[in-house]
Formats: sequence, C-alpha cells, structure tokens
Amino acid sequence: MSDVFILGIESSCDETAAAVVRSGEQLISNVVASQIATHQPYGGVVPELASREHLRAIVPVVRQALAEAKHTYDSVDAIAVTQGPGLAGSLLVGISYAKALAFALDKPLIAVNHLEGHIHAVLLDIRRNKDRQQGNRELQFPVLALVVSGGHTHLYLAAQQAQGWTYENIGHTRDDAAGEAFDKVAKLLGLGYPGGPVIDRLSPHGDATAVKFPPAQIKHPDRRGRHDGRAVEASVGAAQGPRFDFSYSGIKTAILRYVETHDMRASVETRRKALAVISKPNLDDYLAHCDKRTLDLAASFQRAMVEDLLEKTLAAARACDVATLFVTGGVAANQELRQTFEREAAQEGLPVYFPSRPLSTDNAAMIAAAAYPKFLAKDFAAMDFSAEAGLALR
Ligand code: KG4
Ligand code: ZN
Repeated sequence: MSDVFILGIESSCDETAAAVVRSGEQLISNVVASQIATHQPYGGVVPELASREHLRAIVPVVRQALAEAKHTYDSVDAIAVTQGPGLAGSLLVGISYAKALAFALDKPLIAVNHLEGHIHAVLLDIRRNKDRQQGNRELQFPVLALVVSGGHTHLYLAAQQAQGWTYENIGHTRDDAAGEAFDKVAKLLGLGYPGGPVIDRLSPHGDATAVKFPPAQIKHPDRRGRHDGRAVEASVGAAQGPRFDFSYSGIKTAILRYVETHDMRASVETRRKALAVISKPNLDDYLAHCDKRTLDLAASFQRAMVEDLLEKTLAAARACDVATLFVTGGVAANQELRQTFEREAAQEGLPVYFPSRPLSTDNAAMIAAAAYPKFLAKDFAAMDFSAEAGLALR
C-alpha cells in the first residue's frame, strides 16, 4: 500500500485544528488555533462565540496545516472531520468545510468520532515512537482506554478487527466529566479558565494531604438507564457485564462547601479580579495571588481526582484482564496523573501509554490518524451526513 496522506479537521469545542498525517503513523503537520482568549472573560466556553471563532479560523488553519506539510488541497488523499460528540454549531463549521473541500476536490470524506480520535492519538504516538524502546513492543490486546477530557470520562475496551477498530464502553461519568470538574473547581477558586492546566501547575506548591474528600458515591440510577448503578466500583447490569462508572459532581460541591465554611469567598473574589487583568498569567502570577489554604485545596482536589480515576481504571483493567492501558484526552496531560498511572500500572505489570502532551488535548492529527483504518476499509461518509452532538462510540 502506498502512502496515504489524510487532512484532518477538528472543530468540536474550543479549538480549531487541522493536520496532515501519513498512513496513520507520521505526523506531518499539526495546527491548533485555541479560543481560550475569547472564552476566558466568561469563565467557560460560550457555544455561539465558539462557532463564530471556528468560522473565522477554519480556512487559515487548514491552509497553514497544508503549507507546513508541503501539501496542497490536491495532493492529499482524503479529508477527515470530527462528526461528534461536541457542540453542534462548532461541529457544523468543520463538517461543512470538509464537505465542501471533498466535493470540490473529488476526494473521499471520512467522518470520525472525537473520542475515537483521542484513542488514536495514543496509537499515532506509539507508531511515531516505533524506534524508541516502548514502540518496539507489539501492542498487546485487550486494550483498555480511559478517555478523560472536558466532556468525557469514559472507559472503552478497544479491539482491532480486519475492517478497523471496535469499542465497547464499560464505564462513563454519571454527571460531571473529570476535566469539567477541574474547570469548575478552578472557577470556584478564582483561578480562571481553563482550570486543568492551572491546577496542574499549582498543585506541586500545595499539600495534597491537607484536605480529605469522601469517596464518590454513586447511588442514583444511571441517567441513561443502561444499568442499575448500585455500587461505587462495579455495577453489574443484567446483560452487560461489569460497569465502572465515575462521578465528579460531589467533589465540586465539597470544594464549594469548603470555600464557604472557611470564609474564602472574599479572597477568591480578590484573586479572580487580580488575575482577570493579567492577559496571560504565568505561574508566578498565580502563586502571588494564592494563599497556602488555596494551594492545599487545589493540590488535595487534584490528588483525589487522580486517585479516583486510577482506582476505577485499575479495577476495570483487573476485571477485564486487559493487557494494555491507554490514558488519553485533555486531562491526560496532567503531570501527577501521568506519573501516578505510570507508577501504579507498572506495579501491576500493565504497560500504560499516553499521547504526547500536545496530542492529549484536542487536535486534528488524532482525527486524521483515526481516519486511516476507515480509508483502508473504504468506510467513507455520504455527503449528507451531519453533526451529532451526542454521538456514541461503538
Ligand atoms: O480533550 P480536551 O482538549 O477537550 C475535550 O474533548 O473536552 O480536554 C479539555 C479538558 C479541559 O477540561 C481542561 O481543563 C482539561 O482537559 N485539561 C487538564 C489539563 N490540560 C487540559 N486537566 C488537568 N490537567 C491538565 N494539565
Ligand atoms: Zn477532546
């Protein structure tokens, strides 16, 4: 099979991204235009603004990705685009542009699930690192993938079939996603948006054992009604086998209560105002505006999140007797999470793979990589396919 160059386009949330990837294994270019500055004053992503920013950025970002790859619209073999899940208006910008390109250039169009993209970010990096030690090992199945991002905390058993990859969901968050909890807690502490990277950088400056949080209790039935959800770690549905669900709205409420009972409101507000006038606060700016109690709280929160993610993921890995672990999505960029998973998985003799940090958060290289097996299987999208905000991964 000769080389296949796929142009990937991603616009599901607050990043407009385009990339060219060769045959699912070589990253030729990877351009990501972040909208952080647009959404920062609102403390979170504003969907209408996101769509507008995607409209503005999509053409230059794609042009730049092609130019950096030394490719032209004509020289790529296919166009891949995120179909969902994500913000409907944002997804539509990428999809409409990808469709127009595919139609005008008479190239195949490939629709990719964003979550599948995150899983393929790991595979892309494993192939890119083939020469290094870890890449020399054959990938052992079954693979358990934890996709942990701003919108998802999902566990999938991933398998490679002749016609591409299949995924079985064995766990998801019942309420907030882990990244969402990072973002909400950062907001509660006056640290701005997006919260994950800030809490990541501040945590080593606090005492992670200072505040204890009760373990997440999953008592309420699954909103999606797929199983009864009796136990915390594994609930056994009638026909579906063990489930490993997460819940992060409780810890957010616990932090809110802590802030209130420790009279931190006024200092949070002072910090929020002080940081809001600094255009790109650096670590020293954050530290200058954080007292010890805030740093301890942030570090303790991060420790609790990491431990919960680890505990549930390892419980699932043991129950399903998996041979390999993937951890991917924006929260997989977290330093403490990476170190903890590496250390604890090694103790269990379980190889764990992360994407490189730039490929952990949203990007289009992962979309182009996930599209390659679909290209080989001629699994092309019809021109009338549309955005699916709640698209499930199977
Ligand atoms: O995968 P992603 O870029 O977008 C979604 O698909 O949601 O993930 C974004 C999420 C945000 O909630 C952000 O706060 C979180 O990932 N995040 C982090 C870190 N970097 C990004 N969370 C913890 N530590 C980080 N270093
Ligand atoms: Zn994502």
